[in-house]
Amino acid sequence: MRDILPPESGRWRSFVGTFADLVEPAGYGQVIPPLLEDIGVFSRIGEATEIVQKEMYDFVDKGGRHVALRPEQTASVCRAFTQNRPPTPWKVWYAGPNFRYERPQRGRYRQFDQVGIEVLGADDPYLDVEVIALGWQFFTALGLTKVKLLLNSLGEPDDRARYVAALRGHFEARIDSLSPESRQTLATNPLRVLDSKRAQDAPAIADAPRIADFYGAEAAAHFAAVQDGLRALGIPFVIEPSLVRGLDYYRRTTFEYQGGTLDSAQNALGGGGRYDGLVEDLGGPPTPGIGFAIGLDRTLLACDDEGVFAVAAGELDVFVVDTTGGREALVLADELRAAGLRADRAYENRSMKAQMKAAGRSGAAVAVIVGTDELAAGVAVLRPLRGESREQVSVARGDLAESVKKAIR
Ligand code: HAM
Repeated sequence: MRDILPPESGRWRSFVGTFADLVEPAGYGQVIPPLLEDIGVFSRIGEATEIVQKEMYDFVDKGGRHVALRPEQTASVCRAFTQNRPPTPWKVWYAGPNFRYERPQRGRYRQFDQVGIEVLGADDPYLDVEVIALGWQFFTALGLTKVKLLLNSLGEPDDRARYVAALRGHFEARIDSLSPESRQTLATNPLRVLDSKRAQDAPAIADAPRIADFYGAEAAAHFAAVQDGLRALGIPFVIEPSLVRGLDYYRRTTFEYQGGTLDSAQNALGGGGRYDGLVEDLGGPPTPGIGFAIGLDRTLLACDDEGVFAVAAGELDVFVVDTTGGREALVLADELRAAGLRADRAYENRSMKAQMKAAGRSGAAVAVIVGTDELAAGVAVLRPLRGESREQVSVARGDLAESVKKAIR
């Protein structure tokens, strides 16, 4: 788990701000679920998934309750819906950390942040399109140009069940050619074998049955409408029949946003899909749902790789240098900040030279200097720190904020 220090932390804030600015005007309100929930909430993600089997940070609390740090927020949002029963469609967005006990590497962390949206209570293929489009537009807003949208449908639960049975038969007939890991996965979750990136599994995956051959009329119509809607919005996508994703709650539409620059195992910048049975599993009424989550950590790495969304260090407007003991700097910095300027100062009554050096390092546009003479005369000296001119002027204390504003314009 990592510390995020300034100025990088400012970039995190802008990331979430950019997301909020995109989804709030589309009718999404922010939901803030707790970091910790009863473990039962997350078991619904799928007993056969790696997240539930191996990656949960769970423990028994002082009251004897078995709880877990959230590995994702979709299940929490559905649990919140079940308890609060807001009117539908319930459109929400969220941001914040999640915890998975994974092997840390570039783009994969044990604490990682996501932004995401979920919509509960509407089963409309054009809603799927709205959701997918918002994710797509977010990457565009960040300036990323190498993101690819992969799309699939897992069919209705019955279609999916027939498909899983066919897949199990297919892989069992080729079990000797599979990697030991995939043999194990096959026993619990044949769909996940399709996710294997191991070369040994590639031939068996290549000629596996295709989900598209198992769609009933309803799932086929829904999927066709989603594709039609994406075309109407001019959003390019690639149909990827092996896209099953790592969570068991998906039905029908699934999708993933793939970056163009990271290692393939960490290349999924975000993903989502429909999870029409999840609310019911959590004790609520039958309620369709769809959403996505985008990984902040990973997406910022993609931004670095593409050279976009670099946030400048929070630059200062003015730096106060006070050689009379520091009390003037205290008052002046306070006044300048109250006037809306970004102002900092030196501490510990250092020498003029040391304070001017600090002013230079601070990146401020101007220095405001007060010595004994200035203090006696009720003035301060304004000295530019950037640009050609270093010409300094003496300004009455009452006019200081206005003069600084003029000088930095
Ligand atoms: P997920 O695919 O597990 O889906 O995670 C979504 C994104 O979170 C990934 O694409 C990735 O960018 C990021 N992520 C996941 N694990 C890590 C990690 N260990 N380190 C860094 N980043 C990571 C979900 O979480 C679903 N809740 C998405 C969803 C929302 N489906 C429907 N609604």
